[in-house]
Amino acid sequence: MKQRRAQVTLVSPYCPIPDAMIQPFNFLFAPQSTQTLPHDAYFENLRSTEYGRLDETGQVYLDYTGGGLHSATQVIQQMGRLLTGVHGNPHSVNPTSAKSTKEVELARAKVLEFFNASDDYVCIFTSNASAALKIVGECYPFSDDGTFLLTADNHNSVNGIREYCAGQGGTFHYAPIKQNLTLDAGHLKQMLCSLEGRNKLFAFPAQSNVSGVRHKLKWVRRAQRQGWDVLLDAAAFVPTSPLSLSKVQPQFVSVSFYKIFGYPTGIGALLVRKDALDKLNKPWYAGGNITLSSVGAADRFFHSDHQRFEDGTVNYLDVPAVGQGLDFISVIGMERLKERVDALAGMLYQKLSQMRHNNGAPLVRILGPDDRRLCGGTVAFNVLDKDGGVIPIQTVEDEAASKGVSLRTGCFCNPGVDEANHSISNDTLKAYFEEKTHGDYFDFMTFSQQTRGAVRVSVGVATNRTDIEALLDLLSAFQGAK
Ligand SMILES: Cc1ncc(COP(=O)(O)O)c(C=O)c1O
Repeated sequence: MKQRRAQVTLVSPYCPIPDAMIQPFNFLFAPQSTQTLPHDAYFENLRSTEYGRLDETGQVYLDYTGGGLHSATQVIQQMGRLLTGVHGNPHSVNPTSAKSTKEVELARAKVLEFFNASDDYVCIFTSNASAALKIVGECYPFSDDGTFLLTADNHNSVNGIREYCAGQGGTFHYAPIKQNLTLDAGHLKQMLCSLEGRNKLFAFPAQSNVSGVRHKLKWVRRAQRQGWDVLLDAAAFVPTSPLSLSKVQPQFVSVSFYKIFGYPTGIGALLVRKDALDKLNKPWYAGGNITLSSVGAADRFFHSDHQRFEDGTVNYLDVPAVGQGLDFISVIGMERLKERVDALAGMLYQKLSQMRHNNGAPLVRILGPDDRRLCGGTVAFNVLDKDGGVIPIQTVEDEAASKGVSLRTGCFCNPGVDEANHSISNDTLKAYFEEKTHGDYFDFMTFSQQTRGAVRVSVGVATNRTDIEALLDLLSAFQGAK
């Protein structure tokens, strides 16, 4: 990527542009000249040149699994593109439309290239990972003797597919996770071998959005050998780990781009292996999906490629910014980023696990396996009082907010991990749903007299040791708490 200087005049009689907006032109990251810096210096330089707003505003951002941060370069590139180009709706052939189409298709090609998927997959742009997952739920042929197997560690956007499955007369099954939140390999193997159906879909996250466990990608091939189509939810994995779809080839892969590079929000993708595309039956159509539709004949012909699943007008102003985001991350290099994030998460784990109350009792209980090589840049934990009781997550969240630290608390839309973490029995869960007509997390805690939830901290491209120290400092406020 070349260092860019946008060729635009930042002057408007309607809305004067403040200096602060022009300033980024002066602190653009110069990736080529820093490529050989040692890791720490490289990322510190990156932070000050591209993510300077963190320190300028005094924010400690530790929620990269929630959303990544965009670099200054991405914003400037997008601003330059919008200020210098005229873009029309791509559903046409006029010059401005052709320009939009060209830029969208370039971004599509970059997505496929980024995941090493150019020859074997199509890229369907969606509004986020959830919308990508919804396409699979809505279109997978569950009605034809369908079976859906999913791991207990899954985001609700995957759990929700069971509604489509059951609604169409299919059956769904959960593969359990162990107390350390890794997959129960024996159980899973047995389920993959024994469950039957004409159309079998197996879904798991490449990385848990709660524990950070990177589930083994070998399950893709293993499942496929038993006749399963595989849906790999890669939303929490791809922001800090390379995924090569020439090596591992699930039928379906879901991602959200803001989780990788922050901007633009509102765009994700479903990558579909070309040989699985026709297995998805689109139950309706909109503008953009069909080559011909008729009122008189009440019939239609669908597009045979990604267009069949992109409803209406694609986000043609922002999709090209996805290509720019991928370029930016590619200059850093996914391997380098992964190494950095793993090192920071490892350090965070070490320091957290050493924190103690004065009486020697641990201050935190970390979720997931002790072997952190199995995990990415996410660490989830409960803060404990000196007698070992869980300090309510809201108390921790409030303390963090008061110190300018952005972390996350709750169950992170992943109830399976939370239920395992707090050993909540199926009987208790069923009793709650049977007794109530509506409810929520907090009401459930009152009902069951059980604590739920955890604190989640996740690191990313702009994290440094000072951020981690700020977290440890705020947690030390709980030392001695009872
Ligand atoms: C593993 C995983 N899957 C799916 C999603 C849903 O992503 P989105 O909210 O962008 O649709 C998330 C969001 O956090 C996630 O972490």
